[in-house]
Amino acid sequence: MRNIAIFASGEGSNAETIIRYFKDNSQAAARVVLVVFDRWQAEVRKRAGRLGVPCVYLSHSDFDNEALVLDLLETYKVDVVVLAGFLKLVPPYLVKAYAGRMVNIHPALLPLHSGKGMYGMHVHRDVVASGEKETGITVHLVDEHYDKGQILLQKSCPVFEGDTPETVAERVHALEYEWYPVAIEQLIKSLK
Ligand code: GRF
Repeated sequence: MRNIAIFASGEGSNAETIIRYFKDNSQAAARVVLVVFDRWQAEVRKRAGRLGVPCVYLSHSDFDNEALVLDLLETYKVDVVVLAGFLKLVPPYLVKAYAGRMVNIHPALLPLHSGKGMYGMHVHRDVVASGEKETGITVHLVDEHYDKGQILLQKSCPVFEGDTPETVAERVHALEYEWYPVAIEQLIKSLK
C-alpha cells in the first residue's frame, strides 16, 4: 500500500475526488494519508476534514524549512505527492526528494496556456480568447519549472462557439475528476 499526500491551495474539488477514489476502491494500491495546504482560507481543509484525512497548514516560510517539510512527509510515510490546485512553486529540495513521484495537473493541453500566472480561470480565459477549438487536461511529473515536467497523460474536450471561460472550466473539471485519480494510480502501479 502506497501513501499519497495531496498539496492544495484552494477549493480542493480534485483533492476530494482523489481521496474518495482511493477510499472507495478496495483494490486500490494507495490511499491519501495527508493533505497539505498553504492558504489558511482554503476550502480543501474542510473537504479533507469531512473525509477524515489529516490536514496540515504550511506557510510559505515553512516551505523554506527543508527539515520541517521532509520530516512531515516522512512521519506520514508519504510515497507520492499529488499537487491539486497547488499554486506555490515547489522548492527544489522537495522536487529532488520526490523525483518521479510528484505529479501535477494542468487544466489545458500543455505546452499550451502554461507558465507563471497561468492557473485556474486565467487558463480558461486564455483558451477562449485565443479561439482554440479544443482544450483539456495534462497530468505531468513535477520539476523545478512550472508545467514543464514529463507528461504522463493528456485528455481533450471541445471548445464550442459561444463557450465562456466558465463553461470551459466546467468541462475541464469533469475531465480532471475522471482522469486525475486514474493517472495517479497508473503512476503508483509503475513505481518499483
Ligand atoms: C484545477 O482546475 C487544476 O487543474 C488546477 O487548479 C484547479 C484546482 O481546482 N491546477 P480544485 O481546487 O481542485 O477545485
